[in-house]
Amino acid sequence: MASRVLYLLGSAAPPVLDFADVVSRVQADGWSVCVGLTPTAADWLGDQLPALEQQTGHPVRSTPRTPGDNEVWPDADAAIVAPASLNTVNVAALGLTPNFLAGYVAEAIGKQWPLVVMPCVNSAYATHPQFGRSIETLRSAGVRVLFGEGGFQPDPPGQGDRKAYPWALALDAARSLAE
Ligand SMILES: Cc1cc2nc3c(=O)[nH]c(=O)nc-3n(C[C@H](O)[C@H](O)[C@H](O)COP(=O)(O)O)c2cc1C
Repeated sequence: MASRVLYLLGSAAPPVLDFADVVSRVQADGWSVCVGLTPTAADWLGDQLPALEQQTGHPVRSTPRTPGDNEVWPDADAAIVAPASLNTVNVAALGLTPNFLAGYVAEAIGKQWPLVVMPCVNSAYATHPQFGRSIETLRSAGVRVLFGEGGFQPDPPGQGDRKAYPWALALDAARSLAE
């Protein structure tokens, strides 16, 4: 049987620096993985990008297709947007499409494709009034948002530990959405 396909889509928050390990975990769980990044996250990962492409067997995407380009990834069974920065959460909720990742989210919401979003914000960012509205908007649009109880819980500024980011919750949610 062909493997299920997971899109692992990350924005510019520290846990994205662990994507190589996360890809290994996901592959060990029987998924084929495609990695997508915001342009800032792609910048952060810089010299790790060729290794991620080799590890996944798919191009890492951070820029939208241009007309006439063929789709380079297999269709997804589920997608995870994590870590989702304050910026990416708000962009997604507002339906803006400034980059490849945001464009995918807009399309996934419109087409009701299985989508998990796990924010990574400190407790100060989390109090921004738009953040709460964005979480609510995404949930009411059918997105599985892992924030608060049962999801990512913010730490005070400067006290976050990227190694404690709860990847297992996102992977469990993607597995259940793909069933
Ligand atoms: C070292 C560092 C850590 C950061 N951590 C976070 C974070 O945990 N959450 C967040 O929302 N933004 C964080 N930021 C800010 C984002 O990287 C910034 O808002 C960026 O524009 C997000 O862009 P993106 O959503 O397109 O990836 C951090 C920035 C730096 C330089």
